[in-house]
Amino acid sequence: MKMIERTLVLLKPDGVKRGLTGRILSRFEDAGFKFVGMKMVWVDDSLGRKHYADVAQRRGEKVFQNLMKFMATGPVLAICLEGVNTVENVRKIAGGTEPKTALPGTIRGDFAHVSFIHADKEDKAIENLIHASGSAEEARQEIALWFKPEELHSYKTVHEVHVF
Ligand code: PPS
Repeated sequence: MKMIERTLVLLKPDGVKRGLTGRILSRFEDAGFKFVGMKMVWVDDSLGRKHYADVAQRRGEKVFQNLMKFMATGPVLAICLEGVNTVENVRKIAGGTEPKTALPGTIRGDFAHVSFIHADKEDKAIENLIHASGSAEEARQEIALWFKPEELHSYKTVHEVHVF
């Protein structure tokens, strides 16, 4: 298994509009991850459908439609992060998909609290601040979807220069 890997994080419209960008990015920087790509994107229907291609099948058409609407309510910040076991570690920092059950200390557990049941009753997407790739293969596909090769940067952080 490759240990140094990359993953995709999306700071969703709720996170951007709530002004949580800096605080959320800090959590990844504090844990030592390296940002290798970052840009703001207003998701259109084509990109949204590609990114959430399997959600209708797995979670139902209603969840998919609400997710599409929510993701188009404002720009998202797309970030490609690099580090050790990044997919697993970033999911750990993000917390569970449902803020209500996400543990304190995680991004979703600390900055949100809503439940799936509440979102479904309100007929809207769950506003859970971020998306993080679920597996190494998903990360590879999602990074290729969101970033052109020239938008991803290789460089050494001061930690790599001074410590390794
Ligand atoms: S995950 O975290 O990738 O495993 O998420 P997953 O459970 O596969 O769900 C995919 C996205 O669908 C959203 N979702 C829901 N919204 C509202 N109500 C319900 N019941 C529900 N179930 C899933 C959830 O926000 C996931 O989006 P991401 O961007 O992956 O968090």
